[in-house]
Amino acid sequence: MSISIPQLPKGTRDFYPEAERIQNYIFDTWRSTAESFAYEEYEGPMFEHLELYTGKSGEEIVSQLYNFKDKGDREIALRPEMTPTLARLVIQKARELKKPFKWFSMPRLFRYEKAQKGRLREFFQLNMDIIGTESIYAEADLMAAIATMLRKFGLKDGEFAIGVSSRKLLATYLEEISAPNPALVYPVLDRRLKIGPEAFAKALADAGLSEDQVKKLDDFMSCKSIEEVKTKVHSENATAALQEIEDLFATLTAAGYGECVNLDLSIVRGLAYYTGIVFEVFDKGKSMRAIAGGGRYDSLTEKLGGERIPGVGFGMGDVVLADLLAEHNLLPSPKQSVDFYIASFTNDMKKVFETAQTFRSASTGKSFSVAHPLAAMKMGKQLDQANYQGAKIVVYVDGSKAAEGEFEYKDMRTGEMFVGNVNAIVERLNTEVKKA
Ligand code: HAM
Repeated sequence: MSISIPQLPKGTRDFYPEAERIQNYIFDTWRSTAESFAYEEYEGPMFEHLELYTGKSGEEIVSQLYNFKDKGDREIALRPEMTPTLARLVIQKARELKKPFKWFSMPRLFRYEKAQKGRLREFFQLNMDIIGTESIYAEADLMAAIATMLRKFGLKDGEFAIGVSSRKLLATYLEEISAPNPALVYPVLDRRLKIGPEAFAKALADAGLSEDQVKKLDDFMSCKSIEEVKTKVHSENATAALQEIEDLFATLTAAGYGECVNLDLSIVRGLAYYTGIVFEVFDKGKSMRAIAGGGRYDSLTEKLGGERIPGVGFGMGDVVLADLLAEHNLLPSPKQSVDFYIASFTNDMKKVFETAQTFRSASTGKSFSVAHPLAAMKMGKQLDQANYQGAKIVVYVDGSKAAEGEFEYKDMRTGEMFVGNVNAIVERLNTEVKKA
């Protein structure tokens, strides 16, 4: 009888060290950018009471939940997004937390959706949120952080775009054209570009809109500039919503991010809690799924039973981002790289361990990575290992000068041999050299 080999669950990934190295590069860039904008890191549990999501986040998320009953008969869900957890954290300490505050997190999330390019069932998502202010400069701060981060990854302005829309503006337009059932209409508007014009018109007709209303909405969502929108909306609320977008764009332009943002009223966002500005980040030409999405949610804490505390934020997944960076050749080498490999002609393992320790603690600020053989082996094999592990310098513990505290060593980047003490070797490591 043959035993079948265990399979990787659909939509999940294994991270062998080479893949994990790339993941860590993404996490490091996320974290360092968030910290450079003075966001503080937080975490929550990977599962929550199902109740936190049902009915609050909108159908999109609820239909994609991994949920189960635990042994205490409680309805539990693996977290599909971080925003409800964040809202819970905020409600619990509403009084103590000094507002406004800026937080970030890099949770592992789970969604029971069809696994496809850019969408998996388990993924990581950077979340950056600002809680406790209604100011549009919070949106500006988040968008500046997104643009800074994508530039740090090596993308150029023009290779990505933050498309901005406004739920407030859309709501006032729906009112102006007297469209019924906004709750039914938003999910359709969100799918407009995905489903094509015919299905769009049919779905809106099913929601009770007339042909004229459908045409008006379609025209409205195709507007490319604030000037164009101004010819279509007239109410006081709409003017205020437009003014907000103008302020946002002017601020971002002043800070050098003008090329990174544009008006895109086709963006609606599937989640039900958004109340103001909504935005999505796409690659040039929108050939991939969204890299990031977010928006303002001023009544989420209230909907969850707390007091009203405004918030705004976004989520950026690792999957589309890594695809995009790979397409632009911007991912680092996945190969291992260590600073030193300690080798021995005589297989003197005690000396090897001792010297490895000397180099690990010789660090000046940065700590060095040090590898060595784990069993007696020929020098050729040791050098093979050193090469495979990407060692920059091989130190021979038992060369002719060992008695005087000096080591023979080889700079693997140039192939040159030297003799020197620990300080000289460390100095050599820190010298920029061209690979031979
Ligand atoms: P979301 O649009 O559902 O928003 O997700 C944001 C980003 O997470 C997407 O643009 C995408 O990069 C990534 N993402 C979503 N689903 C998947 C998936 N199945 N596989 C891989 N990546 C995925 C939210 O989650 C909001 N809670 C974001 C937010 C934070 N709004 C305010 N604060």
